[in-house]
Amino acid sequence: MKHWRIDDVAWDRFDRDRVDPGIVPFVKAAAMVERNGVDYGTYLNRVFHDDPDFAAAADNWAVEEVQHGDALGKWAMLVDQGWDYPAAFDRYRRGFSLNLDVDASIRGSRTGELIARCMVETGTSSFYTAVADATEEPVLQQVCRLIAADEYRHFKLFYDHMKRYLARERISFVQRLRIAAGRIGETEDDELAFAYHCSNEDENLPYDHQRCTAHYMAGTLGFYRYRHLERGMGMIFKAVGLPPRGRLSEVSAKLAFRMMQRRRRQYVARVSSDAPAVLANAA
Ligand SMILES: [Fe+2]
Ligand SMILES: [Fe+2]
Repeated sequence: MKHWRIDDVAWDRFDRDRVDPGIVPFVKAAAMVERNGVDYGTYLNRVFHDDPDFAAAADNWAVEEVQHGDALGKWAMLVDQGWDYPAAFDRYRRGFSLNLDVDASIRGSRTGELIARCMVETGTSSFYTAVADATEEPVLQQVCRLIAADEYRHFKLFYDHMKRYLARERISFVQRLRIAAGRIGETEDDELAFAYHCSNEDENLPYDHQRCTAHYMAGTLGFYRYRHLERGMGMIFKAVGLPPRGRLSEVSAKLAFRMMQRRRRQYVARVSSDAPAVLANAA
């Protein structure tokens, strides 16, 4: 059961004058990753093949993720009428796919799989909250708030199932921490960088992981404020079994925010040193 539908969005409030062109490329990229939720749903069904309750929840989850892609894609097409969301997604699908030939989690346990999913939902919930706060365009704001609320519910869904599996599998705190940190580190893998490439760069420009990561990160890391990190850190702490609020969580959030700002400066420097032709293509 979806919590909202694309038709619930007040599309007629779209205000072109309030669109920040710096946000658009990342909305396009996000649409690719969200739309790919179907594959993740299939993957989760294979990993949890004998757990019908979770499999049904995963199917519903995938439907919501796809709707996120469709809403973001629709907004991006309103802004940029020359942009073709289905064509960009086809391009993404041709070059990026998950290994669906599995019968167990790539994280080593079902608890681990669910912790990794909690990290993803923490990331998306923070990202859409940050984008909603960063934009003044009312429709994008509404879409991002609706999506962020879904992502938070997804976090809770995976967290609740994780607790159930943890009671059974009893993987150690250190293992949980390692899985969480590992999944956060994967943010710089191809999933987002290639989504940026397919949704923004010319088809004749070959994909370059470093370049696309730099463009993606230089743009998106700028949306975050400390409060987004603070809330996200609370969710990460909760997922690994630490107190979500308290001194340790606060210190970690402050450290993460500083690291994020430093990373952003490095990526911005990398983007500025790119050839002007590449910048033009990525604009
Ligand atoms: Fe999503
Ligand atoms: Fe989600």
